[in-house]
Amino acid sequence: MKKNEILELQIEDIGTSGEGIGKADGYTVFVDGALPAERVKVLLMKAKKNYGYGKLLEILDASAYRTVPACPVAARCGGCQLQHMTYEAQLAFKTKKVKDCLERIGKVKDVQVYPALGMEDPFRYRNKAQFPVGEKDGTVQIGFFAKHSHRIVDTEVCLLQHTVNDAIVREVRAFLEEYRIPPYQEQNHTGLIRHILTRVACHTGEVMVCLVINGKKIPHIEKLVERLQKIEGVCSVVLNENREQTNVILGNQTKTIWGKDRITESLHGMQFEISPLSFYQVNAKQMEVLYDCALRMAQLKGNETVLDLYCGIGTISLYFAQKAKHVLGVEIVPQAIADAKENAKKNGVENVRFLVGAAEEVIPNLYRTEGLRADVVVVDPPRKGCDLKLLETIVSIQPQKLVYVSCDPATLARDICYLRSNGFALQQVQPVDMFPMSTHVECVALMTWEMPEHHAL
Ligand SMILES: C[S@@+](CC[C@H](N)C(=O)[O-])C[C@H]1O[C@@H](n2cnc3c(N)ncnc32)[C@H](O)[C@@H]1O
Repeated sequence: MKKNEILELQIEDIGTSGEGIGKADGYTVFVDGALPAERVKVLLMKAKKNYGYGKLLEILDASAYRTVPACPVAARCGGCQLQHMTYEAQLAFKTKKVKDCLERIGKVKDVQVYPALGMEDPFRYRNKAQFPVGEKDGTVQIGFFAKHSHRIVDTEVCLLQHTVNDAIVREVRAFLEEYRIPPYQEQNHTGLIRHILTRVACHTGEVMVCLVINGKKIPHIEKLVERLQKIEGVCSVVLNENREQTNVILGNQTKTIWGKDRITESLHGMQFEISPLSFYQVNAKQMEVLYDCALRMAQLKGNETVLDLYCGIGTISLYFAQKAKHVLGVEIVPQAIADAKENAKKNGVENVRFLVGAAEEVIPNLYRTEGLRADVVVVDPPRKGCDLKLLETIVSIQPQKLVYVSCDPATLARDICYLRSNGFALQQVQPVDMFPMSTHVECVALMTWEMPEHHAL
């Protein structure tokens, strides 16, 4: 096969990033936007010896699971990968993705993976938006990065975000144009406004607007604050300084320029304070589904000691503390631990303790110095999964139950493989769709401690 050849393909499978995988005379071609069971015509953009990448030119036979994307820029924007697929098919894709990872990477054959739990309405679910700001031909661009690039797809409305963002983006755009405030230019690290970050507390209606800037202040900021104040729910306007030449969105310095330093959200009858730099799950509705699964798997009776590792602002810790004897939460971001402590106080929860630090350092250290014990361990790491030093210590602690909350089934499967070889048994896995229209999937897995043979002797 040669580059620029036009091929007809039968799509047979779907890859982990949502790309269709087809064959032409035994040659494998990956095609963005094509679905299994479709016959398509593609232009071969890249041709390697055994596989290539094709651009979808025409759908000759469409899948029964194909649908028209609700968003006009869905095919160009990198935010969504699956809008052309019915929601039912998206859920099936995610369940299969989890099973495949467990089999291929985790070497697990016989585990119960339940069907992914989806949303009744899979749009407008995000409570956190990060809009890059840039410039093209003298006009302000605000939107999302295009697929595989840092080119901004300018958008007025994003159907995954809370509707309040439409008004915020409109006001910031009008302000930048009117006062000629220069957007950030990534190529030469000049300009001022880098990102608009918003957070919406869906249950209380409170909204935070954070402007990430390549500098210390924004000229005429009071005019922008005046406009933002008029938007329903906005109660906090914050500046974040990020002068680094980096893809990391937020810098370490934040300053409140109007209103509250944190917004308040409610969950399971408790109140939570959220700072701009703290992690908070992006889908509030599914977060409740996720935590309920985790709690059901933990089967707490009231006398357990629980470790909540990678605890963020302490949401899982405080939820579990109502059903356990004691919970210890560990988290690396100091602001998040400050929020967690405040949240415990605010909700009158006394049987929790929070420590700042890397879980892979704090937990081995407590195990060595204090002989730390636990009946239930909950881990909820970032995509890279758990550090081996932490897993080794969890094996030494031998908790009866390990509840693993994961946003990446590949690293979950890797860690499960290690844990299964070292005394734990995998009981069940429940995928939860926290990110409809994207290929991402969250999971909760339950493992139980099974005494390995050499321990039983
Ligand atoms: C997926 S979030 C989970 C947060 C929380 N469990 C929740 O549901 O909101 C992962 C958290 O781990 C924290 N983190 C990242 N690396 C860490 C480490 N090595 N040790 C402890 N916490 C870490 C992040 O700051 C983030 O708050």
